[in-house]
Amino acid sequence: MTKEEYQKNIELLRKYAHYYYVLDDPLTTDEVYDKLYHEVLRFEEEYPNEVLENSPTQRVGGVPLDKFIKAKHPSRMWSLEDIFNAEELEKWLEKTGKLVDDISFYCEPKFDGASLNLIYENGQLSQAITRGDGVIGEDVTQNTKTIQSVPLQIDYLEKIEIRGEVVIFKDEFEQINVERAKMGEALFANPRNAAAGSLRQLDPKVTAKRNLVFLPYGIGENSLEEKLLHKRMERVYSWGFREPPRRKTTAGFIEIEAIYEQMREERDSYSMMLDGMVIKVDQIEAQQEMGYTVKVPRWAVAYKFPAVEKITTLKEIILQVGRSGAVTPVAVVEPTPIEGVVVERASLHNFDEIDRKDIRIGDKVIILRSGDVIPKIIKVLTHERDGSQKAYIRPTLCPVCGSELLDEGALTKCQNLTCSARVVNAMIYFASKPCLNIDGLGDKIVEILYREGLIKNVIDLFSLELDQLLALDGFKEKKSQKLLDSIAGAKGCECWRFINGLGMEHIGEVGSKSLCEHFGVRFIEATKEALIAIDGFGEEMANSVLEFVRVNKDDIQALEAILQPVEPAQKEEVAENPFKAKTVVLTGSMSESRGNIKTMLESLGAKVSGSVSKKTDYVIYGEDAGSKYDKAVSLDVKTVTEDEMKEMLS
Ligand code: IVH
Repeated sequence: MTKEEYQKNIELLRKYAHYYYVLDDPLTTDEVYDKLYHEVLRFEEEYPNEVLENSPTQRVGGVPLDKFIKAKHPSRMWSLEDIFNAEELEKWLEKTGKLVDDISFYCEPKFDGASLNLIYENGQLSQAITRGDGVIGEDVTQNTKTIQSVPLQIDYLEKIEIRGEVVIFKDEFEQINVERAKMGEALFANPRNAAAGSLRQLDPKVTAKRNLVFLPYGIGENSLEEKLLHKRMERVYSWGFREPPRRKTTAGFIEIEAIYEQMREERDSYSMMLDGMVIKVDQIEAQQEMGYTVKVPRWAVAYKFPAVEKITTLKEIILQVGRSGAVTPVAVVEPTPIEGVVVERASLHNFDEIDRKDIRIGDKVIILRSGDVIPKIIKVLTHERDGSQKAYIRPTLCPVCGSELLDEGALTKCQNLTCSARVVNAMIYFASKPCLNIDGLGDKIVEILYREGLIKNVIDLFSLELDQLLALDGFKEKKSQKLLDSIAGAKGCECWRFINGLGMEHIGEVGSKSLCEHFGVRFIEATKEALIAIDGFGEEMANSVLEFVRVNKDDIQALEAILQPVEPAQKEEVAENPFKAKTVVLTGSMSESRGNIKTMLESLGAKVSGSVSKKTDYVIYGEDAGSKYDKAVSLDVKTVTEDEMKEMLS
């Protein structure tokens, strides 16, 4: 690599990273990125004097610190006054109206994470400081450089402070906790604590692993000339910061209420936790005129969403036995409504977690529920104990089959392969959406069929007969025939669904697709070397496949003979249609589930993506379409209604 090539490659890597981390729209695969990254790294090792400051390799973080150094914010970081309902909003608007005339408001989500102040000088990120008390925080510059959505360089040379929230996405948060539970480490209570804890790591390498995301919400010291806040923020986004998913400028009460309601309804569908909507006066001059109280600006307010953390009582701890035999404790709590759902159960992950939190039956606890965050106990209120609480005793026997449990540290397992809970859960998994997707074969039906002795494993499903079903309570002719039809419909399934349906430990949808891509149904013949050679496969996954095949080879082959899975190459070329080879995004509620429409479009050769970008060909929208629709309009992406889509196809 020459010096010129090196510079070009840095630009290319930066572009890939920007599309991946900021625009959420990858331009290439991880593999291509990693390869180029390592070539660049090799060059830098050879010529350390040539290393460019904005090289992505400079994001890995340096040596661990002993402690954080305090740092003063160039200008103060304020907090916000909270309001909770329409009445308080009206009062707040009235108050602002008395202070200034002719203003409009800028509304955006309030992200639940950790505040961070970024200072740029001469276009370079010079320092990053946590909020602290608003005047003095901690210098976390090293850690911040590992956050991919924080530009190391911006196209603006004056000194400027950019404020934002560091968050962890909900799915990432769940993933981190799963890993921590596996390692026997204490779990993070919620995504906010996970974000704050990761930002304040003394070892930047730990921060680098956590996939933190920076979302800018404001500007401190600056010499920008835009007179409107939303124009200033647009300027900030143009420097390579991530744009918040939804924001709007608006005139008054009715509109603000409507935006709030919509944001609140959609909050579960956001990747990050939101705890409200922030309303800010858009005119900078008016902001200056209004000024600040001792703690908060008079020109902004946080309109909070209902809490997702509530206090309840732990009634008992029950046990679940999964398809791999893992026994997990589940908390049964006093039913508690949280944002429209009554929570009765909460996850406890594993038995160590019960000990670590010293959870006792009868305790008052705080539970968290938010969208795809599984309800969980995040804190025990030990000061509320009255002596009636009872310690929990770990089980030694499987609650289902009574065989002795194996304590593997973080995991406790039933080792009996024929334990009915394992068998039934394996069958339920086989029929579930990401596997064979057999309509009508849910938990209840599988349990009945098993209990009545009609099925002992998934192979038996395919020899079920109508008479057998009709003999069962509540099985009418129509329902029974439908069930048999959908079981038969699993034949000729895509190969990866067959593999995924086997439920091999550590092999999920992605792993199954890779296996299918590399070997098809002949994955059962793959050697350890061949398995490890697959991108993303490690020792643990390879061993899991080998062990599963060793024990179940005959059953796998029998099942394959019945299902006759179709390998990708054998799939016939789809006929010409308006969606073939197009990238499509679905949003809003439609006449049937979006999953069904997705499958239909994929069968026509469309690529159905989760986020809108310039490369999207169509956004197909239903009722209550939200930010994706807005984004499509702003990017000039073609939008069509569900009916229009049907017309295009007819
Ligand atoms: S504006 C002067 N906007 O909420 C204005 N804050 O409760 C100060 N936050 O410390 C803050 N999302 O950490 C603002 N869109 C948003 C926000 C936001 C999250 C956090 C921020 C602030 C806290 C105040």
